[in-house]
Parts: sequence; structure tokens; C-alpha cells
Amino acid sequence: MRKTITAIVLATLLIGSMGGFALAQPMSKAEHQRLFIKGAQLWPLYCNTCHNARPGSEKAPYEWNAIILHMRMLGNIPADDQRALVEYLKAR
Ligand code: HEC
Repeated sequence: MRKTITAIVLATLLIGSMGGFALAQPMSKAEHQRLFIKGAQLWPLYCNTCHNARPGSEKAPYEWNAIILHMRMLGNIPADDQRALVEYLKAR
């Protein structure tokens, strides 16, 4: 029983970390710039719709992933717009 649980935990960690690697593919500098500029344009539009637009400096960079995912679901924000907003908010 214990071995089974250990195996399940290890398999979960392995699969989880593989997903992490797949998500963390390196982005080119040009892609970073494209997303940043798009994010700067979208931020006042999207983020002022339901409340005052929160500046990037209000949260630590790691917090923005979860918050924007939440805002994305509330506001039905497309995937590329979400990536652009996160890129912009994390840089401020
Ligand atoms: C569709 C409406 C809507 C849009 C668009 C929206 N928000 Fe929100 N936001 C909310 C609501 C409602 C809450 C508070 C309740 C909640 O957390 O569900 C909130 C809460 C927040 C909070 C507080 C969370 C916390 O834990 O302190 C932050 C920060 C935030 N929004 C940032 C943003 C940013 C940045 C954008 C632009 C990408 C955005 N929001 C776009 C509706 C929206």
C-alpha cells in the first residue's frame, strides 16, 4: 500500500514537472517585446472594465499568473491577450 502511494506521488511529481518544462519554453527577445507592447496597449482596455486598472507593481511577478488566469475567466480574455497582459504586468 505504502509503495503504491509512493509510486503515485512520484508519478504525479514527474508528470507535473514535465508539464512545467513544457510550459517554460524559452521565449525569444522579440517575442517578449511583442507581448510587452501588446500588453501595454491592452492593460487600460481590459483592466479598467470592471474595476480600476491595477498596476503591475501592486503584486509580485509570481502572483500575476494566478490573478490574470482568474481575470481571464471573468472577462473571457483570449490566450494571447492573457500572455501579453502577464508579460506587461510582471515587467512593471
Ligand atoms: C470581467 C470583469 C473583470 C475584468 C475584465 C478584470 N477584472 Fe480584476 N477583478 C474582477 C472582480 C469581480 C474582482 C474581485 C472579485 C474576485 O476576485 O473575483 C477582481 C479582482 C482583481 C484583483 C484583486 C485580487 C487580489 O487578490 O487582490 C486584481 C489585482 C485584479 N482584479 C486585476 C485585474 C487586471 C490586471 C485585469 C486586466 C487583465 C483585470 N483585473 C480585469 C473583475 C474583473
